[in-house]
Amino acid sequence: MSILSGKNILLGISAGIAAYKTASLVRLFVKSGAHVKVVMTPSAKDFITPLTLSTLSKNPVESSFTNDQDDNEVWNNHVDLGLWADYFIIAPATANTLSKMANGICDNLLLATYLSAKCPVYFAPAMDLDMYKHQSTINSFEKLKSFENIMIPATKGELASGLVGEGRMAEPEDIVTFIENDILDKLPLKNKNVLITAGPTYEAIDPVRFIGNHSSGKMGFEIAKAAANLGAEVTLITGPTYQKISHSLIHVIPVVSAKDMYDEVHKYFDTTDIAILSAAVADFRPKEVALQKIKKKADTFTLELERTQDILASLGAIKQQQYLVGFALETNNALENAKGKLKKKNLNLIVLNSLQDKGAGFKGDTNKVTFIDNKNAITEFQLKSKTKVAEDLLNEIVKQIDA
Ligand code: CTP
Repeated sequence: MSILSGKNILLGISAGIAAYKTASLVRLFVKSGAHVKVVMTPSAKDFITPLTLSTLSKNPVESSFTNDQDDNEVWNNHVDLGLWADYFIIAPATANTLSKMANGICDNLLLATYLSAKCPVYFAPAMDLDMYKHQSTINSFEKLKSFENIMIPATKGELASGLVGEGRMAEPEDIVTFIENDILDKLPLKNKNVLITAGPTYEAIDPVRFIGNHSSGKMGFEIAKAAANLGAEVTLITGPTYQKISHSLIHVIPVVSAKDMYDEVHKYFDTTDIAILSAAVADFRPKEVALQKIKKKADTFTLELERTQDILASLGAIKQQQYLVGFALETNNALENAKGKLKKKNLNLIVLNSLQDKGAGFKGDTNKVTFIDNKNAITEFQLKSKTKVAEDLLNEIVKQIDA
């Protein structure tokens, strides 16, 4: 999965011949899972039709301050467009548009949107080689960089004029890769290894039966996604679950029992920076596992159980540089019990979910949590989707490891 997946990308097209390549660019952004809208300068429509771009982006294309709808003029809100965007990419960016951007001129919708946008702005220049080298253009580049806009440099090659030199817009594939790498480079968990446990464990009774629990694994999978979206390399060790995940930064290791999970976690812990143990690990397992299916001979049946290893506590006992996070699911005396676990298991942070809160816990799509850290700071949250809870947790960890 691309880092652009789920992001809102606003593509600004100005009037250069390279505009014909923006059809592929829109296609690539859509393929990466992004939502795409296009704003173009009026003259850019001479190079590529809005119909092509709206068909590919699945959104209306805007190019003027107003729209005619059944004789009613409707104002196109450039502020909304700018606020909608997570990233604004101006490609091709002509010398004319770049100069106007650099000098605050806003005589078309693209430029007004640029002035209103608060998100990161990328620009991919495209022009003839002498225009590209002209001091005036260089001044525009410098000024835009001083506004923290990011330049995707033009490449060398044959230009529309027939001349050969620098000024060709970067190829659509290279523009997408450039943006993905730039975003990844700036993410707060880049180069961090994050280890996550998720789901239930199954403890075998015989070849067909096991002791398990209702954990869906959703919370752990959402944490894995949130960590990867912040640039981390994630190892997700999960018990049996229906959850699916596909992300280039997430390596999934399926396990079945508490013992399997313990072994896998310990293989990776040395090189881990942050470990988040959200799995609902069975605390007990059958002492003997029957080799054959157990027959129902008597009216009652007794199963002798023994303790499984506490994976979280075992990590707390050996942790060095690692930031260690555990979960606590409590029914009574929640805060006190969670604080006790934080201390006993030598954690940096514990996420408490109380089963007394409606919508919290194992199965659903929501959770209501409280974070308690090892300096005794307590942060209580409202009921939220597990996606949002995961984002809150990762943001808190980033804050704490940066402090
Ligand atoms: N955990 C673990 N290995 C176990 C049991 C629990 O790693 N064998 C982890 C869970 O992933 C969770 C935390 O320990 O992060 C808390 O689990 P919980 O069941 O709430 O607490 P326990 O310590 O098992 O205590 P109790 O069951 O007595 O409440």
